Amino acid sequence: MLKILLSGACGRMGGQVTELAGQQNAVIAAGVDVRPEASRPYPVYPAFSFVQEEADVIVDFSRPEGLNALLEYAVSRKIPCVLGATGYQEKELAAIAEAAKSVPVFRSANMSMGIYVLQALAKQAKALLPDFDIEIVERHHNQKLDAPSGTAIMLYNAVKTQETQPVYGREGRTQKRQKDEIGMHAIRGGTVAGEHEIGFYGPGETLRIEHQAQDRSIFALGAHRAARFIAAQAPGEYDMSDLARAMLQP
Ligand SMILES: NC(=O)c1ccc[n+]([C@@H]2O[C@H](COP(=O)([O-])OP(=O)(O)OC[C@H]3O[C@@H](n4cnc5c(N)ncnc54)[C@H](O)[C@@H]3O)[C@@H](O)[C@H]2O)c1
Repeated sequence: MLKILLSGACGRMGGQVTELAGQQNAVIAAGVDVRPEASRPYPVYPAFSFVQEEADVIVDFSRPEGLNALLEYAVSRKIPCVLGATGYQEKELAAIAEAAKSVPVFRSANMSMGIYVLQALAKQAKALLPDFDIEIVERHHNQKLDAPSGTAIMLYNAVKTQETQPVYGREGRTQKRQKDEIGMHAIRGGTVAGEHEIGFYGPGETLRIEHQAQDRSIFALGAHRAARFIAAQAPGEYDMSDLARAMLQP
């Protein structure tokens, strides 16, 4: 049974990872959280320095601010990591690359395999329909702060070329759509967990590919899969494409 040390244990994603542990043949040995307030069925410490329990892998759904302490702990004990937090800047990405020289590190801003497949299909569609107009639409609940979503930006990056320009909504525009623009549209309302659609609009035909997240458990499931995967890897940086390749192997 895989022993997980869960960083950000008392947050929403921490709760989801905890809930799925049993069915994923894993156990949460301990948690770390700067606000260890939510009740969890394992000890939760305010910092890594308090952790006594052994772990096979660290899973992180905290914040970028917690990264340095986490990497220091992981490197000193040679524990593989799964990094699920979003919003890393250049400096943090460099620290991850440095740590990955001595421990395996898996990182993805979206742990949903469905979103990974959506991205892969979008790349293929772009290659085969190079002249089609592309528009990206995302829908999220009315509490979401940022727009467009990080996943919409990931989709944009998957299909962009050197000439591409993002166009956010079209308010105030009085000109025709330009060939190389990609429209990005954010809808906010209700309790929608997250929907992403990428549309390819050509002469006489339209292809739309859409992913709908019904709840956050899909990200926790992805994190558990990533944890099992990374625990068996050599030091280095890994992402969803490595996990997908491993899943396709017989
Ligand atoms: N990769 C994915 O698929 C995916 C999916 C959902 C959310 N996320 C990201 O995961 C992170 C957590 O999301 P959430 O919705 O659970 O947020 P949340 O605010 O509910 O939980 C974050 C938890 O981390 C704790 N925390 C904050 N700073 C910390 C630190 N320095 N050290 C240890 N713990 C710390 C907080 O006290 C909180 O309990 C965010 O960055 C979010 O964008 C990623």
